Amino acid sequence: MKIRSPNKFKDTDSFRARWKEIDGRLDLDDEVESPGPLGSALEKGGWSLSNRFAVQPMEGWDAHADGTPSEETFRRWRRFGESGAALIWGGEAFAVVEDGRANPNQLFHRDSDQSCRTLESLRQAITAGHDAIGNEAPTASVVGLQLTHSGRWSRPTAAGPSPRIAFQHPVLDERVSATSEQLLDDGELELIAERYIEAAVCAQKAGFDFVDIKACHGYLLHELLSARTRPGRYGGDLEGRSRLLREVIAAVRSAAPGLGVAVRLSVTDVIPFKKSQQGEGEPDWPEGEPYPHGFGLDPADPQNPSWSEPMQLITMLQDVGIEWLNLTIGSPYWCPHRQRPAQYPPSDGYPPPEDPLVGVAAHLQAARAVRQSFPQLGLVGTGWTYLQEWLPAVAQHEIRNGFQDVIGLGRSMLSYPELPRDIIHGRAMPKKLVCRTFSDCTTAPRNGLLSGCFPLDDHYKSHPAAAELKSAKARARKGNAR
Ligand SMILES: Cc1cc2nc3c(=O)[nH]c(=O)nc-3n(C[C@H](O)[C@H](O)[C@H](O)COP(=O)(O)O)c2cc1C
Ligand code: SF4
Repeated sequence: MKIRSPNKFKDTDSFRARWKEIDGRLDLDDEVESPGPLGSALEKGGWSLSNRFAVQPMEGWDAHADGTPSEETFRRWRRFGESGAALIWGGEAFAVVEDGRANPNQLFHRDSDQSCRTLESLRQAITAGHDAIGNEAPTASVVGLQLTHSGRWSRPTAAGPSPRIAFQHPVLDERVSATSEQLLDDGELELIAERYIEAAVCAQKAGFDFVDIKACHGYLLHELLSARTRPGRYGGDLEGRSRLLREVIAAVRSAAPGLGVAVRLSVTDVIPFKKSQQGEGEPDWPEGEPYPHGFGLDPADPQNPSWSEPMQLITMLQDVGIEWLNLTIGSPYWCPHRQRPAQYPPSDGYPPPEDPLVGVAAHLQAARAVRQSFPQLGLVGTGWTYLQEWLPAVAQHEIRNGFQDVIGLGRSMLSYPELPRDIIHGRAMPKKLVCRTFSDCTTAPRNGLLSGCFPLDDHYKSHPAAAELKSAKARARKGNAR
């Protein structure tokens, strides 16, 4: 499929024409103002933010084996602080138990002593980033920590997947060699819930303003939301499927009064995709067959989002005190083209089966749908990086119209963390730093290496892992990738 990259559109009108072809309800502003709507302050849901940018959580697969941060981890967090974004949503996924790590180099909660020290040093890295940018630092900011259990996607050692699943999935089980042996029983879920609470208490002691109880991207608390086939307290109807998430939120609020609690939610899903024999991305589910395994999908018509359950869930989350949500879609494991729209796939992915702008549009429409039903809720949107040069004008349009409150930036914060400050202060974006969605930051960890922006960040260009990444990509091209 031939894709015209956003940076090939020379003027606003030609990009607008394509953007409207993708979805007639979308638009962008003609001029980006400085400081403008993106540089405007917001008071909402107990948070004060001096601008409308957030850094999304992004792991680097670079912690030490004992779960403590490395120099690479600190550098990334410092750079997140140097972005000047008023909201740091989570830093990166912090596993609440050692076995719940998605990779052997993920930060994790070993015990309260170690976590308190680790988290304090990471919190200080954000402050150091703010200090380094002087009067461009946000005058009002909020910093959170993302808590996770990787569930089906647990891979705590180099030996391979070590899944713990919420229910048996006819396609995804095979991808991680899961069987009924790996089903977590209710008692095990409740023990995991206790670890969320311990980790949250440490986050509060370390100076974080909030914790994100991660319910996205296929990890445990997200998988439970689609556990329709699971019997017992934590499956079946939406009440049961959302029970553990709600119990964790309530327990954290009671154990750590004053600590904010928020949720990053895959608010809708996509059926699993795979690489076809011709090398294209294609659905890994028979056409026309009901798909009961997606949250925010109608089992009888799984091609499009179904908003009924997500809206009910959000009401339930409000009932346990949630005032901020970070909205995302699907998972990087089974629908990367939607979760992180990209022109170039990671080595375990597939070429985009659609213009990646369709994925960006899906993220923006998800935020608009939630906004319409929940005007009082604080909303961070996702999926922004692929817009490249058009990111500021589209972002200003969405903020100016109140479709979301904060623009959550992912990959662009790895290649070009100064982006929020440059936009707010009316400076041009240096072309050579704009993320072109080469996906090396995903390909590297998929091949057992640390993550980073190898193509554009000088630190990683000259990193010893860069040569290994090159060989891994060559192997993948020959079809020999792991
Ligand atoms: C290298 C890398 C690491 C990521 N780690 C996390 C994570 O720890 N937690 C999370 O919720 N999302 C994670 N994500 C997803 C991003 O937060 C974001 O949703 C995604 O990149 C799409 O946003 P973008 O288009 O701005 O990049 C990661 C993405 C990348 C590329
Ligand atoms: S490696 Fe760099 S350019 Fe490629 S997707 Fe990641 S951040 Fe973007």
